[in-house]
Amino acid sequence: MKRKTGKNYYELLDVTPASTVEDIEVGYRQALKIYGGNSDAVYSLYSNEERESMVKAIKSAYETLTDPEKKHAYDSEIMNEEEEDTPEVDIEELTSAAGNRQASRPIGFENVRNCVRLKRPFPLESLDPLITEQYRILCSRIEDAGRRNNSKVFAVTSALKGEGKSVTCMNAAYVMATEFRKKTAFLECDMRKDSTAVNYLEEPNVPGLSDVLRGDKELHGAISRVEGTSLYVLPSGNSGKRASELLGSSGTKKVMDALRTGFDCVLIDCAPVLGLVDMNIISRFVDGVVFVVRAKKTGKDFVAKAAGALKGVNVIGTVLNGADFKFTKYYY
Ligand SMILES: Nc1ncnc2c1ncn2[C@@H]1O[C@H](COP(=O)(O)OP(=O)(O)OP(=O)(O)O)[C@@H](O)[C@H]1O
Ligand SMILES: [Mg+2]
Repeated sequence: MKRKTGKNYYELLDVTPASTVEDIEVGYRQALKIYGGNSDAVYSLYSNEERESMVKAIKSAYETLTDPEKKHAYDSEIMNEEEEDTPEVDIEELTSAAGNRQASRPIGFENVRNCVRLKRPFPLESLDPLITEQYRILCSRIEDAGRRNNSKVFAVTSALKGEGKSVTCMNAAYVMATEFRKKTAFLECDMRKDSTAVNYLEEPNVPGLSDVLRGDKELHGAISRVEGTSLYVLPSGNSGKRASELLGSSGTKKVMDALRTGFDCVLIDCAPVLGLVDMNIISRFVDGVVFVVRAKKTGKDFVAKAAGALKGVNVIGTVLNGADFKFTKYYY
């Protein structure tokens, strides 16, 4: 049963129906650490009201799942609801209309031939589970925004360089593809500098956005699928001084249009806002922006200035990167 939080009790505590009471207690404590009032959430994406309702749901999940009678009643309730939720299957439709089913899905990148392996995991995999949960929150925010107004293209930016845009964007794209099961494109747009994404790929010499915008490569021949996932990556390529010129060219719109048609979700790792024209260009093509602020590093003035520059742009959330978790030694 999906509660107001969008998760059932098992999902809320990150346990399964077979988990022991001890596991449920661990899950309960972890969940409270994330959403409880004393924790410094890495991402300030939930309002206080939402966090309170999450905590209420977590407590009620704990009470239910640790009481055998309540748990039994809850399990039956879930099973009934799942049956009700399961749409009736029209066998004829299933056997004859595979193509029709596909039509409601984004099309256009099924034949991508480039397949890359991750040389080392995206940063996410080495992170504390509590941090991973923050990425899930970010992705559910992105997903909610998408559901509300059919938005699917989002830029990740910050006031200054080095605030964690790439790390945030790569991790969010990875979670979107692997956990939220969305066909996701990760597009690296900052062509002034060497690609960050290629450091994670086993084959670093893959084409990039700059090759496409220069007309040296077709988008379909340049983008690569990460093996075993529905994540597609187009690194920036390095175009040095021609970066703004290339980004401002008509090719950018074509790339954005093609990605919008072909994917459930497009996450764009951008250059910083201040001092560069890039976000002025990119914001024309996106449905929303995720704004990253590096805790204890970016001055308020810079954040305010960048927020001013993004006026009129739909900022769907702010990620406070590097906030202290009081309860963990990890720092990210
Ligand atoms: N919370 C953090 N704690 C420690 N290191 C971090 C954290 N966030 C990012 N970093 C590190 O800081 C560096 C900059 O991060 P990242 O490349 O994601 O920033 P960026 O905003 O994309 O930078 P740029 O503007 O240069 O593209 C990287 O080496 C990254 O591993
Ligand atoms: Mg970057």
